[in-house]
Amino acid sequence: MNIILLGPPGAGKGTQAARLEQERHMVQLSTGDMLRAAVAAKTQVGLQAKAVMDAGDLVSDEIVNGILSDRLDQDDVKRGFILDGYPRTAAQAEALEALLAGKGMELDHVIGLDVDEDALVDRITGRYSCASCGAGYHDRYKQPSNQGICDVCGSTEFKRRPDDNEQTVRNRLAEYHAKTAPILPFYEAKGLVSWVDGMAPIEKVEASIEAILDRA
Ligand code: AP5
Repeated sequence: MNIILLGPPGAGKGTQAARLEQERHMVQLSTGDMLRAAVAAKTQVGLQAKAVMDAGDLVSDEIVNGILSDRLDQDDVKRGFILDGYPRTAAQAEALEALLAGKGMELDHVIGLDVDEDALVDRITGRYSCASCGAGYHDRYKQPSNQGICDVCGSTEFKRRPDDNEQTVRNRLAEYHAKTAPILPFYEAKGLVSWVDGMAPIEKVEASIEAILDRA
C-alpha cells in the first residue's frame, strides 16, 4: 500500500509515518529528513537547501523531485511507502504522477491531518528529538519516561531543529496555505482523500489512520 500523509507543519505526519513504518513495515519517505541528511553531509543539494529551509521556505521542485525519484528507485519501497512532506506544490504532485506511472506504482490513499493553527505552533516550538536515534519528544506532550534519558536508546543528548522557532513556523504555515493546500482538490477529484482529526491524542489519530488503511 502506498500513501501520502498530507498536512501542515506539526500536524503529526512524521509521528504517524514512524509508527506505520514500525507496525506495518511500510517505508517512510520524508523529503524533510532527506534534505536534512543532505545538509548534514554538506552535499551540493544540502548546501543549496540549507538557507531555504532555515527561512521556512520551500526548496525548489527540481531538487526535491530529484531526491524523491532516486529514493523511489530503491528496492525497499516495494514494501509500500508513506510520503511525508511530499508533494508540497502542484508541480510536485504532477511530477509524482509521472514518477509513479513510470515505475508501475500507484497511490492508495491520501490522508489529510486536520489541526488548528495555534496548536501547530505550540507543537513545533516544543518539539525535540534524541540526538542519537532520532526518537521524537515534546516539552509538554511527550516526555521521556525518565527525564533526560531517551526511552528508545538511553542517550542523554537531545537536539532541536533550527527551523522550529515561531517566526519560521509562521512562514512554513504560510507556504503550506499558499502552495500545498491547493493540491488537495487534485487528489479529491481522484477519490483518494480521507480526513483525520489531527487534534485528537496521538493514539486516536493512529486508530483513525488504521481504520482508513483497513478499508477495502
Ligand atoms: P519537513 O521536515 O517536512 O517539516 P514539516 O512539513 O514542516 O513538518 P514537521 O516535520 O515540522 O511536522 P510533522 O507534521 O511531521 O509533525 P510531527 O509528527 O513531527 O520540512 C522541513 C523543511 O524542508 C520545509 O520547510 C522545506 O524547507 C523543506 N522541504 C521538505 N520537503 C519539501 C518539499 N517536498 N518541497 C520543498 N521543500 C521541502 O509532530 C510535531 C510535534 O507534535 C511532535 O513533538 C509530536 O510529538 C507532536 N504531536 C504529533 N501528533 C500529536 C498529537 N496528535 N497530539 C499532540 N501532539 C502531537
